[in-house]
Amino acid sequence: MYQIVILSSSIRKGRDSHRAALYLAKFFNQQNEIKAELLDLQAYNFPLFNERLRFLENPDQQVIEFAEKIKNADAIIIVTPEYNGGYPASLKNVVDLLYDEWKNKPIAFCTCSSGNYAGTQVLVQMQSIFLKIGALIVPSTLPIAQVQNTFSENGELVETGLLEGRTQKYYKDIINYIERFN
Ligand SMILES: Cc1cc2nc3c(=O)[nH]c(=O)nc-3n(C[C@H](O)[C@H](O)[C@H](O)COP(=O)(O)O)c2cc1C
Repeated sequence: MYQIVILSSSIRKGRDSHRAALYLAKFFNQQNEIKAELLDLQAYNFPLFNERLRFLENPDQQVIEFAEKIKNADAIIIVTPEYNGGYPASLKNVVDLLYDEWKNKPIAFCTCSSGNYAGTQVLVQMQSIFLKIGALIVPSTLPIAQVQNTFSENGELVETGLLEGRTQKYYKDIINYIERFN
C-alpha cells in the first residue's frame, strides 16, 4: 500500500483550489494499493515560520505530527494556487519548516488558477524550490485553469474535459517515481 499525502495549500476563506485537493484525494483513494491522506493547511493554521522544526525547543504537537506524515509518505502532491505570480505564504511557511522530510521524496504539483493560465508561474517556482531541497520532482504536472468552474465545492468534476485522462496519467507517473526510487 503506497501512502500519498495531498497537501492543500490555500488557507483563504472561499478558496477554490481546495476543490482540486478534494478531487485528487478521492481519485487516489479509488486506486488499488493507494491510501491518500489530505493535509489541509487551513485546518492546521500554523504560526508564521520563525525557525526550522529541528531547531525548535518546544515544537507544537501538530507540527511534529505534520512532519511525521510528510516523512512517512511515499509521495506528496502539492495543490497550490498562484498568488501574484508566486506561491502562497502558507505553503512556503511549511516548506521552510522541514528539510529532511522533503529530501529524496517524490513530489508532484497540481497548480490552480481562476483564470486561463493554470498557475504555471507558481509551478516553475515550486519546482525550483524543491530541486534546491533535493526532492524528487515528478515531471508530470496537473495545472488546472478555471478551477472554480472545473469542480463543485466538494471536489466533484463539473467540467470533465480532458481532466480525467490527465489525472490517470499523472497518477501513473507518480507511482512510477515511487517504484523507481524505492
Ligand atoms: C492574492 C491573490 C493573488 C492572485 N494572483 C493570481 C495570479 O498571479 N495568477 C492567477 O492566475 N491567479 C491569481 N489569483 C487568482 C487565483 O487563481 C484564484 O483565487 C484561485 O481560485 C486559486 O486560489 P484559491 O485556492 O485561494 O482560491 C490570485 C488570487 C489571490 C487571492
